[in-house]
Amino acid sequence: MTASPQVKLKPGDTIGILGGGQLGRMLAMAAARLGLRCQVFSPDPDSPAFDVVLNATCAEYADVEALELFANDVDVITYEFENVPAATAMVLAARRPVLPAQKILETTQDRLIEKDFVKRLGIGTADYADVSSVESLRAAIAKIGLPAVIKTRRFGYDGKGQAIIRQGDDLAKVWEDLGTRSAILEAFIPFEREISVIAARAADGQVESFDVTENEHRDHILRISRAPAQISEALAAQARGIAEQIATALNYVGVLAVEMFVVQENADQSGSPKVLVNEIAPRVHNSGHWTLDGASVSQFEQHIRAIAGWPLGKPVRHGEVTMTNLIGDDILGYERWLTVPGATVHLYGKGAPKPGRKMGHVTEVTPARK
Ligand SMILES: Nc1ncnc2c1ncn2[C@@H]1O[C@H](COP(=O)(O)OP(=O)(O)O)[C@@H](O)[C@H]1O
Ligand SMILES: [Mg+2]
Repeated sequence: MTASPQVKLKPGDTIGILGGGQLGRMLAMAAARLGLRCQVFSPDPDSPAFDVVLNATCAEYADVEALELFANDVDVITYEFENVPAATAMVLAARRPVLPAQKILETTQDRLIEKDFVKRLGIGTADYADVSSVESLRAAIAKIGLPAVIKTRRFGYDGKGQAIIRQGDDLAKVWEDLGTRSAILEAFIPFEREISVIAARAADGQVESFDVTENEHRDHILRISRAPAQISEALAAQARGIAEQIATALNYVGVLAVEMFVVQENADQSGSPKVLVNEIAPRVHNSGHWTLDGASVSQFEQHIRAIAGWPLGKPVRHGEVTMTNLIGDDILGYERWLTVPGATVHLYGKGAPKPGRKMGHVTEVTPARK
């Protein structure tokens, strides 16, 4: 078990955030509402998070001097993305508490280590195998079958670094196109739906998970999330239990997201549905954005509370919630969204819309009937 540093912030203290995207921006906004300051570290001068904090460090993650100065300015350090280089985390952790603990990144940065970890907990995943050459890819296919999904072990996101392999595909070409020497092959899961659970864990072991979210992807990018997921209470309890078990096993402090597939067990024999874990994100997650307007406490606030050493909220959902991502040119329609009754619009302040770029999101809440 990873020991997490003990932190107890008071209003006015400063949180350091690594990464300056929309997640960092929304974390900083949640911190501000609780009277906490943030300083953002990002190599990108156009970081959306820079716009909402007074102090920003624009430097490379390998810039040790900049990291040290940043650490000196803050009381605790967190991150908005899982690919924080190990060396960066080490420099920072030597000076200030880093939460979630640096050790957790080692598990979640690598799909193979992550899957092994989930499996060891007795939680279901797609069948998978380590692949490091065309020969081992053939061996993995012999074991797992087709169709299957090949994924780079590291640095994949929004469907990048992965491909579906079907019967008859040219395996040498698939392997060359993936452009890595470390990958995993996963059985293709004919899922009924995709869900995720956002859970927060405090240093004292308190865990609070949000209602299960149902996720719809388009071109491998999250398009719409709905809460609650249209699944049975038993399945929702199972999904939340899995996320809570993972958070506890990691001795996690902060918010994490667990992406899962719902599958029909023995579909031909009309078996009951069950849940398989797809991946873990050691951070706030796009599928939890609905909590900003759809719950009494948001995923961003829960994360800030957890790393500040404050009690977590007990989230109460305000009704049925739909979150729609504004991706690429979708952003051009923001004025129309502004006039939709009941819609809450979030724009990330990014420059030019590029295809696939997350530019903002909209939440719509249908209040629960009393
Ligand atoms: N084994 C699988 N079987 C079926 N679909 C999959 C599988 N793995 C991934 N996918 C699909 O691809 C999407 C992206 O894969 P994921 O592993 O979550 O990577 P990313 O880091 O890009 O989010 C998933 O949300 C799911 O829709
Ligand atoms: Mg994913």
